[in-house]
Amino acid sequence: MKFILANWKANKTIKEVQNWLDTFLLGYRPHNLVTISICAPYPFLLYIKERILGLKNVYVGAQTLSAFEQGSYTGEVTARSLSEIVKFSLIGHSERRSTFHETNEDLAIKVKLAVKYGIEPVYCVRDEKDPIPHDVKYVAYEPVWAIGTGKNEKLEDVVNMKKKLSLPKNCVFIYGGSVNEQNVGQYLTSDEVGGFLPGKASWDAKQFLSLIQAASLDESK
Ligand code: PGA
Repeated sequence: MKFILANWKANKTIKEVQNWLDTFLLGYRPHNLVTISICAPYPFLLYIKERILGLKNVYVGAQTLSAFEQGSYTGEVTARSLSEIVKFSLIGHSERRSTFHETNEDLAIKVKLAVKYGIEPVYCVRDEKDPIPHDVKYVAYEPVWAIGTGKNEKLEDVVNMKKKLSLPKNCVFIYGGSVNEQNVGQYLTSDEVGGFLPGKASWDAKQFLSLIQAASLDESK
């Protein structure tokens, strides 16, 4: 069972989300080979959740959440607010760390709040220098040079990095960085990589379906 998280980043209008879901729901055949999480901008989460209702192994996820629990923090979206909507939340994506200056301390608080409110954190790291909180069950390794560049890191190097990371026991190890339907197959040749975090390859529903299919086909061999 592979875990595939679509990271839509700051893209799409509601109309585009409707179209994406129309295409996705028409083409997706539920099975037990992959678990999917659609990590979308906040305004679309509830709508997506309603549209995928009853679909097996498909969930909605946030891309980050607030380091504040609740209160007078205008503009923030808290784990508490998200708790009845999402199953997962990315935490510590490299774009949050670089553009929004989120520190390891901020991220540790976010993980605690996510867990407190029943959200599964998918903790993102750039390399072995990023410490990993002990209580995460999903860790996504994304080398910065591979994000959005079309250049994915080869399996051997991903596995080498996995060895260097202080991963919590039994956590699911996810790779992200220019994963697409053409290159996903190489990661399926080993049991080391438990899932994928595609950005660009998830923005178009047809391409995302192809990626899911590629990940499922090889998995079932
Ligand atoms: P990418 O994005 O697949 O476009 O490289 C991955 C990510 O940033 O999570």
